[in-house]
Amino acid sequence: MTEIIARIAGTGAYLPARVLTNDDLARIVDTSDEWIRARTGIRERRIAAEDETTASMGAEAARAALAAAGLSPADIDLVVVATATPDNTFPATAALIQNRLGVRAGAAYDVHAVCSGFLYALTAADNAIARGQARNALVIGAETFSRILDWTDRSTCVLFGDGAGAVALTAAVREEAAPRGVLGSYLRADGRYADLLYVDGGPSTTKTVGHLRMQGNQVFRHAVTNIAEAIEKVCADAGVAIADIDWFVPHQANQRILEAVARRLGLDEGRVVSTVARHGNTSAASVPLALHEAVADGRIKAGDLVLMEAMGGGLTWGAALVRW
Ligand code: ACO
Repeated sequence: MTEIIARIAGTGAYLPARVLTNDDLARIVDTSDEWIRARTGIRERRIAAEDETTASMGAEAARAALAAAGLSPADIDLVVVATATPDNTFPATAALIQNRLGVRAGAAYDVHAVCSGFLYALTAADNAIARGQARNALVIGAETFSRILDWTDRSTCVLFGDGAGAVALTAAVREEAAPRGVLGSYLRADGRYADLLYVDGGPSTTKTVGHLRMQGNQVFRHAVTNIAEAIEKVCADAGVAIADIDWFVPHQANQRILEAVARRLGLDEGRVVSTVARHGNTSAASVPLALHEAVADGRIKAGDLVLMEAMGGGLTWGAALVRW
């Protein structure tokens, strides 16, 4: 029997034009370029313009992914958007993006797993393709965190940025040897830690949007353990040795987390794609933004084993393994 695999046919990205540097932030809160770079590796981040939203940025990234894949909106029968900063409480930002693109077939919905959202969305679309429920899917991670930051709180406002990344997935016949496509994924959540990283508002509680709150040092400790667990699990399930991974595309929260995970698993740091210095933490957008950069500059090539991972609010975490 022919087995279907979801293959990544194209990637795309969108970053707002406005750059906010660490020196710019030092004029707003009591911080310094030196502190931010030493603690996080971040040098600058992008901030959405007044008229830019999660849907507008997500649609731009999706257009680029469609073009790279050689697909048109008429080919798409599933849109999954990972975001914690939707344009509206409802409808789903996926419905808004579907309409902006002129996609008229299939389903469109949002997935809410904060920084792990792209891994959750990719898994949902992969499952739909494997079950024959979709043939061509757009998986988009898009965020406008600048709108939920407390710009007086130096412990959080220096960390995040805005942007969007997207992949176009297409159903392909799974090759017997070295199949190309999504080889596996692993998702986790542990709601006992919800109060380590949350937004202090919402429609059913405060009736306001609220602001991001984080106990950063505690999140940091969970991040290294959970990410390492997810990488080991997804590799073991796929029968792939960690040493055989060509590229690690991690969630870009903090350069120190990337390095700690690399040390713990014995990863070659030259194989870790890092964009955190220029993007900051863009939550659900960070993995597809980094992925797109490494594909566009030729680092990731056909046949490469690519491992993506993330951890975020929830707590949620996960990993996905793809042969390009
Ligand atoms: N500038 C200067 N000083 C600061 C700043 C700043 N921007 N922010 C905090 N400080 C101070 C604190 O007030 C504290 O001062 P004190 O010792 O006098 O009390 C000191 O720096 C140390 O603070 P810590 O929070 O212990 O610093 P830490 O080394 O842990 O770094 C950071 C903080 C960068 C937030 C780190 O903990 C981190 O990256 N955590 C993980 C974040 C993450 O992975 N999030 C998950 C994904 S995000 C999502 O899902 C939305």
